[in-house]
Amino acid sequence: MPHPSPPLRLRAAVFDAYGTLLDVHAAVARHAARLGEAAAPVSALWRSKQLEWSWMLSATGAYEPFWSLTDRALGHALAVHGIADTGLRADLLAAYRELDAYPDAAPMLAALRGRGLGTAILSNGSPEMLQAAVEAGGLALLLDDVLSVDPLRCFKPDRRVYALATARFACQPHEIAFVSSNAWDAYGAMRFGFRTFWVNRVGAPVEYWLDETATILRGLDALPAALA
Ligand code: LAC
Repeated sequence: MPHPSPPLRLRAAVFDAYGTLLDVHAAVARHAARLGEAAAPVSALWRSKQLEWSWMLSATGAYEPFWSLTDRALGHALAVHGIADTGLRADLLAAYRELDAYPDAAPMLAALRGRGLGTAILSNGSPEMLQAAVEAGGLALLLDDVLSVDPLRCFKPDRRVYALATARFACQPHEIAFVSSNAWDAYGAMRFGFRTFWVNRVGAPVEYWLDETATILRGLDALPAALA
């Protein structure tokens, strides 16, 4: 008779930063009146070019810090919309450095830590921008570590990046719950072997077959129960 598999013991919950704990659209939201109707499309294009360029660099063996890609992608998004206001560009970039954390992030992290789970960020972000955002969002004391890809000089979803988390917690991939609202990141994490949680706040259609391979949550507040 087959033995039932032993319950999975989790060592840590590891989080994507941008879009998962931090609201990437908060920067444009703070200056929305100055952008008018272009606000939402600028924010979306800013994010999509920031990501696309990180993947393209990584796939071709090149690297540039994520902060620099964030700056360049903002310039591109504003140019596409014919906005040449350098003061606005500087204000948007400064706002991105101190993005709002989602309101459900801190209580969720506190709940996980109360159970003795390790907590960390694993992000494509540059160390300085991550540190500034984590402090501004009130998350610094709730995280054991903030891991950046920067020392590796490649970006998620490269497997070497996910291995930073197993090295940090000295454990196997299945002992880590990896949480991301970016479907591509959740897919990469699942392929690495993490127990994967996709935070789908807006009820977006499923991508990367995540309905078959990940637990789908509507918010971070649902994570403590999902890990119980
Ligand atoms: C992160 C971005 C890419 O790694 O979402 O935090």
